Order: sequence, then C-alpha cells, then structure tokens
Amino acid sequence: MIGKICGTGSYIPPKILSNNDLSEMVETNDEWIRERTGVRNRHIAEHETASFMAAEAAKRALENAGVSPEEIDLILVASSSPDVIFPSVACEVQKEIRAVNAAGYDMQAACTGFVFAYQSAQAYIAAGFYKTILAIGTETLSSMVDWTDRGTCILFGDGAGAAVIRAAEGTAYLPAAHSDGCRGDALVCRSRFSSEFVEAFKKTGETPKDTYISMDGRGVFQFAVKSVPQIVTEVLDKAGLGTEDIDWFILHQANKRIVESVAKRLKTDIGKFPMNLQEYGNTSSASIPILLDEMNRDGRLEKGQKIVIAGFGAGLSWGASILEW
Ligand code: COA
Repeated sequence: MIGKICGTGSYIPPKILSNNDLSEMVETNDEWIRERTGVRNRHIAEHETASFMAAEAAKRALENAGVSPEEIDLILVASSSPDVIFPSVACEVQKEIRAVNAAGYDMQAACTGFVFAYQSAQAYIAAGFYKTILAIGTETLSSMVDWTDRGTCILFGDGAGAAVIRAAEGTAYLPAAHSDGCRGDALVCRSRFSSEFVEAFKKTGETPKDTYISMDGRGVFQFAVKSVPQIVTEVLDKAGLGTEDIDWFILHQANKRIVESVAKRLKTDIGKFPMNLQEYGNTSSASIPILLDEMNRDGRLEKGQKIVIAGFGAGLSWGASILEW
C-alpha cells in the first residue's frame, strides 16, 4: 500500500501586505523586491493563529476529499510557529474538526516540514499503522520576523495548507531527505522561552533581536540552488525516472530566482515549476500544500500525473518525494 493524496485545502489570511506597504516601513522598494525575490504581496495573520489556520485548511481538505473527520487516523502538523508550545497544533486541529479517532503530533523542520510530514505519512501507511492521515503545514512567521530588517521582512508570509493522504494501490517511490546541522547558523530564530530571553526582556521591555528570524541570505540562496537539483535528481534516480517523466515540480516557494535556477540546473522547462510566491511570499512549511491546493482546485492537477515535491530550509534540511496524482 502507498498513500495517495485524495483531497487538499488551504487557508490564507485576508490581510495583504504589499511591497509598497513595506517600503513605508523599511528602506526598500517594489522593484527591488520583485527583481530579487519575485514576491509582490504576502498575507499576514491578524486574529488567526497557526492552529486556527491549520484547522480551516484541514476542514477544506476533508470536504475536498469527501472524507469525514472520524475516518482520520493520524494528524501530522509541520510548523515552526505554533501559537503555544503545548498542546500541539495537531491536538488543537483534532479538537476543532472533531477527528475523534485520530492521534496527532507536530513536527518541526522549518520549510522542509511538509515534505517530511508527507514522507512520514507514507511510511506509516506502508507499515500498515494507519490508513488515513491528515498532513498539514501551518505558519505565522510574521510573528517571528524583525520588521526593521529589510533583508528578511520582505520574504515571509502566513498561511496553512493541508492534504488528506489515504492508503491505496500504487507505485511506491522512495523518498530523499537530508539534514546538516553544521550549517544551521545560516538561518536561525532563537527561542523566546529561554532564560536569556526572559532576562533581556525584563531589562529592556523589548524583544531581543536574536529571537527574530536571522539569515545569511546569500548562503541560503547558494544552499538552495545547489541542494534542490541534487535531491530532485536523487529521488528520480531512485525511481528510475527522468525529469521528462515528471509533470510538475512543486518546490518550496522561497524565491522566484531559486525556482528558476533549479529549473535551469535540471535542464527542464520552467513551465513545469508552478509558483504562487508572488502573492504569498515564503510561507515555510505551508507553501507546498497551499500550491498543491491551488493547482488541485484550478484543474491543473490531473489523475495519473507525476509530481515531485521538494522542500528546503532551516536546519539546514532538505527533502523530496515523488507522488502520483
Ligand atoms: N531592499 C533594498 N535593498 C536591499 C534589501 C531590500 N529589501 N535587502 C538588502 N538590500 C541591499 C543590501 O543591503 C545590499 O546593499 P549593499 O550592496 O549596499 O551592501 C544589496 O541590497 C545586496 O544585498 P544581498 O543580501 O547581497 O542581496 P541578494 O541579491 O542576495 O538578495 C535575498 C537578498 C535575501 C533576497 C536573497 O539572498 C535570498 O533570497 N536568499 C534566500 C533567502 C531564502 O530564501 N530564505 C528562506 C529559505 S527557506
């Protein structure tokens, strides 16, 4: 048995922050941001929490799949920005959608989170542990962004995406997954629950800078354009497939130039690399399921198509899987 995605859903907060809005907050401009990143807008959670958005995306995915909440065996939530440490987002979703028969837990692998959740779901289904799994990516990164740092605040946005994965007959494809903690300093956000933070906050009344996202932009860019083509080639080799056998390459939506560079390095038509980062920015673990949901609903995804999903980000971590729609 393999796991097949039988429904998708997403939730995007309605509040939009445009490049022009940002140019009133930091020294930047629409042209620079669009040229270097491809992003025009990002959506920002106001009252919405990571759990709320995850539950909304989950409800829409269940409706799309025609699966009832009681049928869900496991809820896997990838998130780096949960609203509370515990209970987990997965338990909040379980409560909200009344998935009374489901267990659930959260996974933290930054922007690779959804790919790792998808791979875990496949392993559970192949082992016969579970039949129906809800995999979710949800983020409120806006709460972790330093809105005075023009190098990072232009990139990120909030949102959630979900997929219902069900046991079915089909071809099993082996995944590819990597982590390299030695390069972890390239993309960091320190905990606000450490004693150092609490002491610093008590003294100044301000959130210490190192508890916002800090990033070596060029370093992360170089990591992405090198490691993503490698990992895509790795999953294709494991499956005995070539890029020509793949209908869509759904990459984590970090930066238009990263996606274009990956397409070029794989010598593959950029038309096979859909993007929606122009509207949402980088929504970390949510970006792949949000894009999958958009493509599912607008009819771009057709039964039998082969899709590569590939994520990369803090850790450093990166991973890819092949799935058949
Ligand atoms: N607006 C205007 N100028 C800006 C700017 C902004 N928002 N951000 C940086 N700059 C300036 C810099 O200060 C620098 O000026 P200088 O030459 O006078 O020193 C210049 O632009 C170039 O900065 P640099 O950081 O080298 O730009 P870049 O081409 O590498 O683009 C990123 C910066 C962040 C867009 C790019 O590195 C990137 O996208 N990296 C990957 C980040 C990512 O995807 N992270 C998440 C992975 S999951």
